[in-house]
Amino acid sequence: MQKSEALEYWKKIVCYEIYPSSFQDANGDGFGDLKGIANRLDYLESLGVGCIWMTPVYASPMRDNGYDVSDFYKINPQYGTMEDMDELLAKAREHHIVVMMDLVFNHVSKEHPWFLESQKSRDNSKSDWFIWKDPKPDGSPPNNWRGIFGGSAWTWNAARGQYYLHTFGDFQPDLNWENPEVRKALYDIANFWIGKGVGAFRIDAIVYIKKPKDFADGKPDASDGMVLIHDMTANTDGILDFLREFKTNVWKNKNVFTVAEANGIRPEELKNWVGENGVFDMLFEFNHLQGGDIWFKAKKLSMLDIKMAIVRSQMATAENGWYPIFWENHDKPRSISANFSNAADPVLAGKALLTLLLTLRGTPFVYQGEEIGMTNVNWDSIDAYNELNSRSQYELARREGFGADEAIRFVQAFSRDNARTPMQWDSSANAGFTCGKPWLALNENYPQINVQKEEGDPESVLAWFRRLSKFREKSEVLLNGDFQILLADDERIFAYKRTFRGKSLTILVNFSEADAFYNKSLLGDATLLFSNYGDAKKSHLHPLEANIFSADG
Ligand code: NOJ
Repeated sequence: MQKSEALEYWKKIVCYEIYPSSFQDANGDGFGDLKGIANRLDYLESLGVGCIWMTPVYASPMRDNGYDVSDFYKINPQYGTMEDMDELLAKAREHHIVVMMDLVFNHVSKEHPWFLESQKSRDNSKSDWFIWKDPKPDGSPPNNWRGIFGGSAWTWNAARGQYYLHTFGDFQPDLNWENPEVRKALYDIANFWIGKGVGAFRIDAIVYIKKPKDFADGKPDASDGMVLIHDMTANTDGILDFLREFKTNVWKNKNVFTVAEANGIRPEELKNWVGENGVFDMLFEFNHLQGGDIWFKAKKLSMLDIKMAIVRSQMATAENGWYPIFWENHDKPRSISANFSNAADPVLAGKALLTLLLTLRGTPFVYQGEEIGMTNVNWDSIDAYNELNSRSQYELARREGFGADEAIRFVQAFSRDNARTPMQWDSSANAGFTCGKPWLALNENYPQINVQKEEGDPESVLAWFRRLSKFREKSEVLLNGDFQILLADDERIFAYKRTFRGKSLTILVNFSEADAFYNKSLLGDATLLFSNYGDAKKSHLHPLEANIFSADG
């Protein structure tokens, strides 16, 4: 079905995710900050970015880099002040860039005043704001759920004489969404930021807010006798009632768009979550990404798996809802490294991935550094890694009997630090990220891969990104067009046709490191617009070749 071309603005823009600690440091303390982001708005505007998503910048002890909020109404001093935030909002507006904030509403920091109060006794004004349970008769935790960052999902609190639940680290107690006061407090926070001029929200870990009534044990998935909490709490019946209320109280009828992190929502469920009767505008589901919650069990997806996962979501959102296209974020490895071998040409690979990002149907979300083709770090000692999940996954793998070498390979492949190393701006010391000591080591390839170098090179990944992003901005076919998969069973080629009002674009990407062939009748007399090889033959794709052809009809 051909939809009207009067798309909401957020369907036409490119969103850019910023990891504030690692984007740009303005004051020389080694951490990125809000002023640093404001100083880079010209660059972002020049990329065609219409929205920046910043991971949390609220006050936080930073044990999970901001996903442990201690005050939603304050800015973390490491990032600056509320004045800096107001200034960033104002400047972003001048650059036609909307600011998207991250709402972390499944949990807070254990240093949040709500938790400090709640833990004191079983009888206080916040006693029911978290999920407290008595131990089993033998004193052990209420069930066998494992938290995402390792160990039991329950931690004992002596003052209360009870356990509290935490989906993630023990320093991130889960909020009790069953309590209407909790929900109201959360809606007030979101509305406060809307009042400040925030125009969009990314909503963290939202599929875990509703817990099953019985809190029953699950079937163990590893030799520790535990089961991953996500497998027990994701998308529990009744969750949509909470989310409908959330929408009604916060963004319904407001000029605010939303994208929720929703691991594991299947394409056939999307209609309940997005679109006319949905609760959000878009959902990040992760079905097309390599990996998983337990790294030693990571699924290695074939190119066909990846393609079909994307196609299913494209189809599901064709009639209803909208798709956020993404390969990377701050929790995932760099996409070039995740999808291709070390022998693959990173420039071709980066361009191939960006071609898909910018031509599928939906709103592209690019992660800082993806536009220049940043890659994984491959540090070979667990001590080099900063983020806590790397250590807990390493330990889990070791406990399961994997040798140190194997365990570190899981970490190299999946560590969240891969995406969190500082942004590579130029070839000077610390890549122009800071004049101080960077909080996390840089990827040592920064002298080769950086913004400044790529600005001067018409063949760079960055130049490709710019060309396609400019093209997309003006292309009715890419913005409005239908999506039709081509060569569906092909194990190397990811090909599709976008069509709008008698015009079409055919995108052909060889998603493999070998030559690939197809029947040239597929293209008829279409003309080549873009090729990452400079030229293209209708019937043959070189390794990682990406082409865009245009035709009437
Ligand atoms: C998902 C976030 O993206 C991740 O970085 C964080 O650790 C967890 N949610 C917990 O908030």
